[in-house]
Amino acid sequence: MPESTDFNSLLKYYQQRVDRALDLFLPDTPARQHNLTEAMRYSVIGGGGKRIRPAMVYAAGEAAGADQSVLDTPACAVEMIHAYSLIHDDLPAMDDDDLRRGQATCHKAFDEATAILAGDALQAHAFEILAANDLPVDDGQRLQMILILATASGSEGMAGGQAIDLAAVGHTLTLAELEAMHRLKTGALIKACILLGAMCSPAVNKDELTQLGRYADCIGLSFQIQDDILDVIGDTETLGKLSGSDEKMQKPTYPSILGLEASRKLAMEQHEQALAHLKHMDASANTLRQLSAYIVEREF
Ligand code: IPE
Ligand code: IPE
Ligand code: MG
Ligand code: MG
Ligand code: MG
Repeated sequence: MPESTDFNSLLKYYQQRVDRALDLFLPDTPARQHNLTEAMRYSVIGGGGKRIRPAMVYAAGEAAGADQSVLDTPACAVEMIHAYSLIHDDLPAMDDDDLRRGQATCHKAFDEATAILAGDALQAHAFEILAANDLPVDDGQRLQMILILATASGSEGMAGGQAIDLAAVGHTLTLAELEAMHRLKTGALIKACILLGAMCSPAVNKDELTQLGRYADCIGLSFQIQDDILDVIGDTETLGKLSGSDEKMQKPTYPSILGLEASRKLAMEQHEQALAHLKHMDASANTLRQLSAYIVEREF
């Protein structure tokens, strides 16, 4: 842990911690016959990324009383799923983006087939480490964690949300439809981060998990609202991805439906609700409180 408990130092510490673990857990086969593992490493480690999902795992673990050393596995698993979702999200068949995390997207740096396979393999690898690595939980609890991550990633979660996103291109969505799409494409995985982190504590109880799940629903939505806002107001260099790409692709977003001011207000409301769901938790939930603020204040 860093000496100072200042939030930015803690975030940096979590980033470095998960980076070390990712390097350890990612396959590293020599690129004689193919460059698949190189593409996986390029997309997960090469360009950085905020590592906000691993930070959520660590912070939820901290709030629930989990030992930090056991959180590396779920932290890496969620980042691998996230990195896979970004690789596929950038493909020509989806958002057709050339820049990600300040570097060429995977299909540009390699080729489309390799990018598809890198995403596939990262997804599988996330489940592999969750199933195989040491965790301080019994088999039933481990199975539950695998189920949570699977549901959050599949047709009832991220992939389902991405399908709605693609089907909605060029159409207008109602606010309720837009919210449902955001909750699936981004919120579901974020909720899994919080639940997986908390479930690594033997002391966590059902009520705490329920409250943490409600907190997660709020930050999941505010995260994607802020992402939509940044696509409008951010610049490409700061974002590390092309700004204005939602408008170019005619994506339904919060700013396109509500305007910037109302979008900001909604994100802030979700932040306040997130804090309200933590009101019965002590100072061990402070990092979660700061994470929620960071999500709506961030500039990239
Ligand atoms: C971008 O996520 C994709 C969304 C779900 C909005 P992040 O903003 O967390 O991207 P990285 O990991 O920092 O690159
Ligand atoms: C992506 O949403 C959500 C994912 C599941 C990857 P976006 O398409 O808005 O993400 P960015 O803006 O390209 O990072
Ligand atoms: Mg997209
Ligand atoms: Mg995109
Ligand atoms: Mg976006």
